[in-house]
Amino acid sequence: MSYRLTVLGTGYLGATHAACMAALGFEVIGLDVDPVKVARLQAGELPIHEPGLEELLQQGLASGRLRFTTSYQEAAEFGDVHFICVGTPQKKGEYAADISYLDAVVESLAPHLTRECLVIGKSTVPVGTAQRLADKLARLSPAGDLVELAWNPEFLREGFAVRDTMHPDRIVLGVVSEKPEKVMREVYESMLAEGTPLIITDYPTAELVKVAANAFLATKISFINAMAEVCEAAHADVKDLSLALSFDERIGGRFLNPGLGFGGGCLPKDIRAFMARAGELGADQALTFLREVDAINMRRRARMVDLARELAGGSFRGCTVGVLGAAFKPNSDDIRDSPALDVAVNIREQGGKVTVYDPVALDNARMAHPALGYGRSALEAAKGAHVVLLLTEWQEFIDLDPEKLGEVVAARKIVDGRNALDAETWRAAGWHYRALGRP
Ligand code: UGA
Repeated sequence: MSYRLTVLGTGYLGATHAACMAALGFEVIGLDVDPVKVARLQAGELPIHEPGLEELLQQGLASGRLRFTTSYQEAAEFGDVHFICVGTPQKKGEYAADISYLDAVVESLAPHLTRECLVIGKSTVPVGTAQRLADKLARLSPAGDLVELAWNPEFLREGFAVRDTMHPDRIVLGVVSEKPEKVMREVYESMLAEGTPLIITDYPTAELVKVAANAFLATKISFINAMAEVCEAAHADVKDLSLALSFDERIGGRFLNPGLGFGGGCLPKDIRAFMARAGELGADQALTFLREVDAINMRRRARMVDLARELAGGSFRGCTVGVLGAAFKPNSDDIRDSPALDVAVNIREQGGKVTVYDPVALDNARMAHPALGYGRSALEAAKGAHVVLLLTEWQEFIDLDPEKLGEVVAARKIVDGRNALDAETWRAAGWHYRALGRP
């Protein structure tokens, strides 16, 4: 049988999941409580920048298999499988995650569930949440035992969301009975047919796999950035160090790029929520190292500002700074906890005149930080600059011609915050080139 699916919450994760499931041939309803978002999606307009996703959305709508609603009743009547995809942001002034959106979904959906169905949690949550939500579902659903919860964490990366959803590395499913596996094997049939491993486990393990994965990735990035600090002190070159490490297959080169460190809506808040949850469970000692991972990461931003100030001659007063990049990483317009904007704002607060350019994140940046200056191109942002900072490694910046850029700046000084440029080429063009962790 072909199951009918709903996706509850149409942010990054939900919009991607809904469009991809429709592309796989399922009938899908996407639900969001925000009527403006629903209207835009229903009109085929994607509110975020994600390569390939808008096309999938439009194809889904045109095929008649995909539509969007704000009605929980409609979703409940329609769906055999309901995917929960709402966000779990960091609470204000606390490390813990705010899981109120998840509770709201369950409280809104459950009273309408009058027939057999599966509810699949995909959001990143503190361990223990699934069991609590399962109890709540059982209490609030008229269909009682016929409604079952399973946990299926999502590992997609922004910028590669479609590919990661259609061809995941692995599928993890946390269950308390055998039924969800049978259903989900059919829903994810195309992925399983490609040989994608399926790991069936209990709720808490499934929840932990996700935060453990993000904690590992964050640790790997902060490890190489800690090495960058030592390299700076020892006049060594962290880029060569990282390259040499990468050939050891046990270490591997991915997520070993030294630079400005991690940002975004996931890694920073997930490691903090993980520490907070471990504390509640009495296992805080096990994760004290994540405090250091976080601290190393934040120090990179401060070091970037220091290096820029050094090149500016000791002070930002009267200094024009051209900033290349606003998104937290390339191929995304997401500026949540963006290291690039953090640095830009900090320099402005210290008296610098900052002009930012980003290929797709400019509107978001302008909305969040109206006091910063903005340019319409890399050349415009760099115009008259005493120092240029590369803070997000967009291909467009890697491809910049140092000669052309050199013609518009006030001084040929650049700090490569992502170790993305070829130092020799830039130095040969007369630039004073500096990078984090390199001589
Ligand atoms: C991350 C994880 O990679 C996904 O597997 C996970 O599903 C997702 O969080 C999530 O929890 O939803 P994402 O936030 O899209 O994905 O971005 P990443 O590609 O992981 O990059 C995170 C940050 O690390 C970026 O700011 C990037 O610039 C930085 N980074 C990455 C480095 O500084 N060095 C590296 O070597 C790699």
